[in-house]
Amino acid sequence: MPVVVKKTLGNLLQDEHNNYYELVSFFLDSDISNLEKEKKATYLLNDELDKIQLDKISLPHHPQDIKESYKNENQIVGQCYQDYLNRRKAGSEREYFKNVGQAFEFLIKVAPVKKVDGSWLYSLMKYWSDPVFHDLILIYLEELGLGQAKANHVCIYDNLLRKLGLEDFELFLEDEYYHQPAIQLALAYAPPVFIPEIIGFNLGYEQLPLHLLITNYELKELGIDAKYFNLHITIDNLDNGHAHKSFKVFENIYKKYKDKEAFMEKVKRGYALNQQGISSVHIIKNLNLENLVHAILKRKALVGQWVHNDQQEIGCKTINQWLTNPQEIGSFIDQLVEKKWIKLNCNPEESVFWRMISHAEGKMYGVFTPAERQIIHDWMGGEQHASKVLPYKNNLSKVEPLQDYLFRHMLDEQLQNLQAKVDQTDRFELKFCKLMPFLAPEFHHQGIGLWSTRKYAELLFPYLTVPAR
Ligand SMILES: [Fe+2]
Ligand SMILES: [Fe+2]
Repeated sequence: MPVVVKKTLGNLLQDEHNNYYELVSFFLDSDISNLEKEKKATYLLNDELDKIQLDKISLPHHPQDIKESYKNENQIVGQCYQDYLNRRKAGSEREYFKNVGQAFEFLIKVAPVKKVDGSWLYSLMKYWSDPVFHDLILIYLEELGLGQAKANHVCIYDNLLRKLGLEDFELFLEDEYYHQPAIQLALAYAPPVFIPEIIGFNLGYEQLPLHLLITNYELKELGIDAKYFNLHITIDNLDNGHAHKSFKVFENIYKKYKDKEAFMEKVKRGYALNQQGISSVHIIKNLNLENLVHAILKRKALVGQWVHNDQQEIGCKTINQWLTNPQEIGSFIDQLVEKKWIKLNCNPEESVFWRMISHAEGKMYGVFTPAERQIIHDWMGGEQHASKVLPYKNNLSKVEPLQDYLFRHMLDEQLQNLQAKVDQTDRFELKFCKLMPFLAPEFHHQGIGLWSTRKYAELLFPYLTVPAR
């Protein structure tokens, strides 16, 4: 395509979306055709890949060296984790999450990327007839829990957020948190020319990082269900798990490409896409409950600016006046601290503001959700008085079976039609063709997607599944 035309097309595609959040919504919109998504994916990926500097990528150039470096990396990660455990056994503090509020902040900020877990492999599902892709297809199906809600990674994360009351925090996040999810969804709809990039991306994503091990350990310590993190430690292993399968496919496809240089350059660029956006490590290093509390109060101010009476003045302004300008939330909080309504680094019960929002008879009881109150509590409590364990930890184990019921009722007309169509034909290619749309990132964690995943897995890997239905 001539440069000028390409640029015009690029601008047109770009103009429709102002930010990554909108791009993520676009890719997850089931009313938009795959053709449109493929066009957008091509534009976005080319744009992202152009930004990558090849000489800064640490991936070795030859498959054997990559395997060696993975083994070494795995050993280093294992050793660092043992060092961490030894430090903890010797009595040192948690290193990632000081309290429950910080763990909540982490879970909220990684949510956009967890909600599209595995999506970068979706486009490969149409290559079911080519065994060279079977290991990647299997990784995708395992990300989808082979169609079992209890094992589907997106369902597990959604369930975790639901149990903690953290489902509605996405509007608190800045757009950059949607950068990596937008890339993963673009890979989901990428045309075949991007297969080497997908393989490279997958090679990087399926490795076991140190932060996953420590996150898993510290969440458990705080009384938070760490199943999502734990299963990535077991399922992604280098011995026979996703890391192993990722390397095997890469090696097999490498052998098929005539121009190995060109292939490796594309693999490396795909690998580097892992680094785009905000990483888990960056999120952990920059946890800041005060900023999150500001964000929560700014949102409340949208309604709060109209509902307070004008009798009470704080720092020469009424509460309504303070809340009219969300940019002044920081100064407003400073005033509340000065007036001793908020006492930082003390037991929150000593603060008027805390009693107002958390006691049943408090004037602002019900304004903040339990999860928001936990975050505010741990910000106010500081080192000494923040929650070191989830207050309702013991109740959570009792609600575990609830998840089974959440999906049992989702048999709907669309699903029944699909089941009839798939059952009516004996032709394999038609069955796959009918099932594939429901394995897409926007569907696979819903009733119809879970059924389609089970059926797809049953057709391609019968040894793995119990029959669907
Ligand atoms: Fe996963
Ligand atoms: Fe995985």
